[in-house]
Amino acid sequence: MIKDNPKELIPKFFNSTANSYDSIVNWTTFGKDSYWKNKILEQLSTEKSVLDLACGTGILTKQIAEKIPHAKITGVDVTKNYLEKAKEKLKSYQKISFVNQDAENLNLGKKFDCITASYLPKYCTPDVLVRKCLEHINEGGKIILHDFTYPKNKSIQKFWNFYFKGLYLAGFFMPNWKQVFVDLPHLIRTTNWVKDYEDAMMDYGLKIRTQNLTCGTSSIIVGTKIS
Ligand SMILES: C[S@@+](CC[C@H](N)C(=O)[O-])C[C@H]1O[C@@H](n2cnc3c(N)ncnc32)[C@H](O)[C@@H]1O
Repeated sequence: MIKDNPKELIPKFFNSTANSYDSIVNWTTFGKDSYWKNKILEQLSTEKSVLDLACGTGILTKQIAEKIPHAKITGVDVTKNYLEKAKEKLKSYQKISFVNQDAENLNLGKKFDCITASYLPKYCTPDVLVRKCLEHINEGGKIILHDFTYPKNKSIQKFWNFYFKGLYLAGFFMPNWKQVFVDLPHLIRTTNWVKDYEDAMMDYGLKIRTQNLTCGTSSIIVGTKIS
């Protein structure tokens, strides 16, 4: 069963799923993961440095490197297996480096023009993560947070609930993913991450813009540190 603190889910979800993550995230989201990551990439243009928090196996990190090849990119993740996978996949990218740290205790000793985080917000305490991002972002820089959301529309909720029941059954044939398919829907249903991060960002004086995507199943918040 799900624990009260989403942070306790991280080892359960990620310690043995790194090898299959890239294909699972693609097919379980019907390819929407790429669409959502493109929405993140649309925010980037002339940044010289980007920090990709919870970079996982480096899917977004690689796309950032290809969109802005001049930029120095740092990928951070708390799960060693995921980070190792990212390092192995992206070893030919000279401008990407990786660091094994917890985003909530981040201490890189430098600042970036942009910070991205895809599928991280729901696991973290908003005030803590936003404060850590602010310590690592340059004036005028953007903090881009993306994650799943529970749709508000009742018909779409029905489809969403039905779909996760299917994934729950699929979990019996995919032992490494079973725990994810059991606990993830509850976490997404109960998290209030969009409102909580909007509030935290506004408290810290950031200018914010939120996009709800794909019938409310995913959202992106862009917070700009006004210089
Ligand atoms: C679902 S994966 C997403 C990976 C990648 N961002 C992507 O979109 O493909 C979530 C990642 O968040 C990482 N993570 C969760 N909490 C974290 C934290 N507090 N600090 C750093 N990484 C964290 C996990 O280790 C995992 O690799």
